[in-house]
Amino acid sequence: MAIDRTFAIIKPDAVKRGLTAEVLSRVHAAKFQIVAIKSMRLTKSEAEGFYAVHRERPFFGELTEFMSSGKAVVMVLEAESAILKWRETMGATDPAKAAPGTIRKELGTSIQFNCTHGSDAPETAAFEIGYFFAGLELI
Ligand code: RTP
Ligand code: MG
Repeated sequence: MAIDRTFAIIKPDAVKRGLTAEVLSRVHAAKFQIVAIKSMRLTKSEAEGFYAVHRERPFFGELTEFMSSGKAVVMVLEAESAILKWRETMGATDPAKAAPGTIRKELGTSIQFNCTHGSDAPETAAFEIGYFFAGLELI
């Protein structure tokens, strides 16, 4: 299995609730390397660009309002099969359906306020990493 990279966000709900350190400790416990990390507040249009694949979905307006509602922590994580591994560490989108021990199960409060984001495929990881970080930040 190859070492690869995924893009992750600690979403504004988790940051507001003081869960940044808790999520980062789970990142370390799962043996990811943090390649790049920063705290930032997305504008509405930056959130719309990030979630452009969802623009036709009924929840797009709420989702981009939420994602631009406060500081988020954006990061690039590296591990063996990082994309799948981070999705497994987060759990299913809806915390009510997420497996025991996952971030979303233990910390999420609703399908929208589910604490973290993770890329879902190599192409989306490449787009999302490049959306937030420049080449020099990724060495
Ligand atoms: P993400 O992209 O944030 O990692 O989440 P995901 O792949 O598990 O889920 P996705 O289908 O990509 O949805 C993106 C985010 O939109 C919000 N959502 N709200 N109200 C709803 O029915 C609904 N469905 C999804 C969640 O914040 C979800 O993570
Ligand atoms: Mg997604």
